[in-house]
Amino acid sequence: MSAVSSPRPLSLRALRESDLNAVMAIEVRGYPYPWTRGIFQDCLRAGYPGLAMEEDGLLMGYGLLSIAADEAHILNICVDPLCQSRGHGRYLLRALVTLARDHGAHRVFLEVRPSNTSAVALYHSEGFNEIGRRPRYYPAREGREDALVMAIELVDDDIQVMPPL
Ligand SMILES: CC(C)(COP(=O)(O)OP(=O)(O)OC[C@H]1O[C@@H](n2cnc3c(N)ncnc32)[C@H](O)[C@@H]1OP(=O)(O)O)[C@@H](O)C(=O)NCCC(=O)NCCS
Repeated sequence: MSAVSSPRPLSLRALRESDLNAVMAIEVRGYPYPWTRGIFQDCLRAGYPGLAMEEDGLLMGYGLLSIAADEAHILNICVDPLCQSRGHGRYLLRALVTLARDHGAHRVFLEVRPSNTSAVALYHSEGFNEIGRRPRYYPAREGREDALVMAIELVDDDIQVMPPL
């Protein structure tokens, strides 16, 4: 995977509760079934690491992780639909994977709708592999939609010590 490089002068910082007005404005544009403000609040109050991606001080995207032991889960990654398809999603995804690695994660998981073809293509191109499906995981216009479960292994080139058997 190549180094994180921004297509534009974007900045990244920790996501915080004071971002939630701007987050919710993007969230309801970005998803057919958006998270509620309460879900974001619960995640941030629980200490889940998140990133705010800004351009000229304006929020353009955000992501949230949960981390337990050496496994991280991308709970949400969203780029403002007004700014999509300009490389920002890839930049944000790489930053989230780097954040997971910095927290000691050895693998990163996520769920995605099979119908979300641009997200699936992004994850594949960044080295995520499909490892399973959760049947009827998401609400959908006609009933429910499965989730693809995808994962990437984070293996350091310079691992010196083998894990215990
Ligand atoms: C998924 C998402 C984060 C991608 O962000 P983005 O800024 O549009 O993505 P990028 O411009 O970095 O593009 C990355 C890759 O995604 C795919 N992609 C992006 N826009 C696409 C489009 N309009 N059509 C098809 N593929 C597309 C391509 O594979 C692209 O790689 P390429 O430019 O080398 O072809 C963004 O679409 C989004 O926030 N969607 C709404 C929320 C969401 O669905 N999140 C994912 C939940 S699992």
